[in-house]
Amino acid sequence: MGAEKRWLFTLFSAALLSLLLLLLYSFSTFSSSRPFPSVIHHGAHYPPAFAYYISGGRGDKDRIFRLLLAVYHPRNRYLLHLAADASDEERLRLAAAVKSVSAIRAFANVDIVGKPDRITYMGSSNIAAVLRAAAILLKLDKGWNWFISLSAMDYPIVTQDDLAHVFSSVRRDLNFIDHTGDLGWKESQRIQPIIVDPGLYLARRSQIFQATEKRKTPDAFKVFTGSSWFVLSRPFLEFCVFGWDNLPRTLLMYFNNVMLSQEGYFHTVICNAPEFKNTTVNSDLRYMIWDNPPKMDPHFLNISDYDQMVQSGAVFARQFEKDDPVLDRVDEKILKRGHIRAAPGAWCTGRRSGWMDPCSQWGDVNVLKPGPQAKKLEDTITNLLDDWNSQTNQCK
Ligand SMILES: *[C@@H]1O[C@H](CO)[C@@H](O)[C@H](O)[C@H]1NC(C)=O
Ligand SMILES: *[C@@H]1O[C@H](CO)[C@@H](O)[C@H](O)[C@H]1NC(C)=O
Repeated sequence: MGAEKRWLFTLFSAALLSLLLLLLYSFSTFSSSRPFPSVIHHGAHYPPAFAYYISGGRGDKDRIFRLLLAVYHPRNRYLLHLAADASDEERLRLAAAVKSVSAIRAFANVDIVGKPDRITYMGSSNIAAVLRAAAILLKLDKGWNWFISLSAMDYPIVTQDDLAHVFSSVRRDLNFIDHTGDLGWKESQRIQPIIVDPGLYLARRSQIFQATEKRKTPDAFKVFTGSSWFVLSRPFLEFCVFGWDNLPRTLLMYFNNVMLSQEGYFHTVICNAPEFKNTTVNSDLRYMIWDNPPKMDPHFLNISDYDQMVQSGAVFARQFEKDDPVLDRVDEKILKRGHIRAAPGAWCTGRRSGWMDPCSQWGDVNVLKPGPQAKKLEDTITNLLDDWNSQTNQCK
């Protein structure tokens, strides 16, 4: 295509996208006028709320929608991101799927990133996307307490009622982040190599470049690494995003050239910030199975892993193949979730019959009804908080 044609094409797609979004919007304002959303209360006397950032790439629309329904609760906030390699058409279809859920229309707590980011495998564009998501969620919603980032390949193994119930007794400034200052092989393989992420400045997707020279391990601050999955508190993300202290910004500039920066950025910021290092609980709350020695990604979990997975006391598990039967078992046994329906919680008051979605009607959304998985999560959190109290496993 010539430059002009391409430009016209872009203009045309943008116009079409806006028109469709407008149509969807007007459609939703008509049809959501029937059931009124119940009043949502936030604050110390109410259960905590979570901000979810769910991200995927081309072809992940259905997985993201399924995961959204599995973690949906009217009190939470959601931001969905289909990275730049996915088409606008796929993004529109995701928007249409989201709008088809009556509770989501009524509570208007799900957004989709309309101007997607380019994400490079192993590059720092990953951190840029997470920080952007945190900034959007901070701006959109004053009520949430914790930020959770999920990939399209993740799935919850507790209900949102379980999660909010257990986190009701957790200090709201705590951060669940798996970390260590013992770099081991990562020092020479991850910290010293210098990489450049072309996703930040080239229009076409490609791979990271690696410089032939290595650089020294920093001594102006101590580097920490760990899992790229976390549950971070609102105060800590405000510290990272607003940047009144220069530490988060300085480290962002440094991590720009570090391989797999999502395994080190937040870990290093939090452990080098005196006002936040005491708030780290050393766990990512995820269930994963790694090879020994570990490969780049954990195993794909399947039905043979089900029992161990649900006994683990984790909040989420990863990673899964699309529509693996083990996900159906989680839907059936734990989430009690029907096909293309949100996982029900105490807020759903509709009748539970074959064709009726119990969450198409709702009552008070500020009450919770934890199920059997809450007990296992509670045990995990109790152990982690004991560990946190002893301060032996923090930023060491
Ligand atoms: C963090 O813990 C240390 C050791 O108990 C204590 O001396 C320090 O005052 C704490 N800092 C904050 C900000 O709570
Ligand atoms: C589940 O995965 C493991 C290894 O990842 C494999 O050995 C096993 O055969 C799989 N089970 C099923 C039922 O697919």
